[in-house]
Amino acid sequence: MSDLEFDEVTKVFDDSEGTIVAVEELDLHIDDGEFVAFVGPSGCGKSTTLRMVAGLETITDGEIRLGDKVINDVSPKDRDIAMVFQDYALYPHKTVRENMGYGLRIGTDLGDEEINRRIEEAAEMMGIESLLNKKPGSLSGGQQQRVATGRAIVQEPSVFLFDEPLSNLDAKLRKHMRTELSRLHSELEITTIYVTHDQEEAMTMADKIVILDQGKLQQMGPPKKVYYEPANRFVADFIGSPSMNFFDTRFRRDGDGSGIFECEGGFEYRVSEQMADDLETADSTEFEIGIRPENMRIDSNAPSEKSVETTVDVVEVVGSNNFIYLDLVDEETCVRTPSEIEPEEGETVTVTFDEEDLHVFDRQSGNTILHGHEQGLSTTDESSPVQGQI
Ligand SMILES: Nc1ncnc2c1ncn2[C@@H]1O[C@H](COP(=O)(O)OP(=O)(O)O)[C@@H](O)[C@H]1O
Ligand SMILES: [Mg+2]
Repeated sequence: MSDLEFDEVTKVFDDSEGTIVAVEELDLHIDDGEFVAFVGPSGCGKSTTLRMVAGLETITDGEIRLGDKVINDVSPKDRDIAMVFQDYALYPHKTVRENMGYGLRIGTDLGDEEINRRIEEAAEMMGIESLLNKKPGSLSGGQQQRVATGRAIVQEPSVFLFDEPLSNLDAKLRKHMRTELSRLHSELEITTIYVTHDQEEAMTMADKIVILDQGKLQQMGPPKKVYYEPANRFVADFIGSPSMNFFDTRFRRDGDGSGIFECEGGFEYRVSEQMADDLETADSTEFEIGIRPENMRIDSNAPSEKSVETTVDVVEVVGSNNFIYLDLVDEETCVRTPSEIEPEEGETVTVTFDEEDLHVFDRQSGNTILHGHEQGLSTTDESSPVQGQI
């Protein structure tokens, strides 16, 4: 078994500019065979975490275990881990075959026959059989990427580590390589940590996503979970494109039991008694509400208590959808509409959304207070009207 366990792992760099806590008390459990993507903004500690797993960086505090073995002090070549880097790190003067076999020649006592067998098998898997006698300089970026991945495969490791492996490729090739790497993972079923700053890449490839910010774990979960149930505002903002819309709000109870969000941008939004009850248990009335562009609609018949009238700032046509930017808060509020709904810039529109699609965050800590879909509201059965809803 090669479950990978992080137990309060901390990395502190001390250099001339001071002390940097790059990773802080990271606790994670990655199951054997799982494909986990690490995402987060530049500098959040993704590469440092990966390099600690690979043994390229010492661990300041805490433990990393592979299976039941603590690997903190195991030398990189004895960790049974293979890493693929963004810049491929191929030897320019060696052929593809030599590059792929080099690690095995210096790090193991495998014979030529076995080394060549592994090289040919990996080359076939990556579709680079015809390149084995070429030098890296004559290969395209995509081909070099395949060679670097092939070189990791021949090691038959317990864990694959990828650090932004597709960042140097153009958009089309990147999408293609995503599919290839996903296929490779389902064939080999080797535990994989895949670092990327691209949340879409993470969402499409991984079994689970780890979101980091400033060296701290924000959430770990399957793509759908982090999308529908973000643990805090940071995750809500980072996952999804275009990003979730946020409004500062003050909450009050109405006489009839329902609740009202008084929102930044000058509009009010009425919610059910159920949601009002849930919000009353929070120790503040200052919230931030979040709603995704795909959960907002332009609808001139929407009830005024659940909608906002505003003007269209910019219309972005992207093919299957339009992104409508509104003159609401910092001109950043975005609604995704089907392509046939294309208002004019400057036009007044009524925009609405369902309470079920709301996310409510604590304005101070950013922690999630509730997700609209989690309060036992009926979202599909129209025959059972929700209490307090209009
Ligand atoms: N060798 C180092 N010396 C000092 N600081 C470092 C070193 N490596 C990384 N850092 C710092 O640690 C933090 C995390 O960096 P890194 O793990 O490379 O982030 P990411 O890969 O998520 O962009 C950053 O603040 C970075 O400047
Ligand atoms: Mg990095």
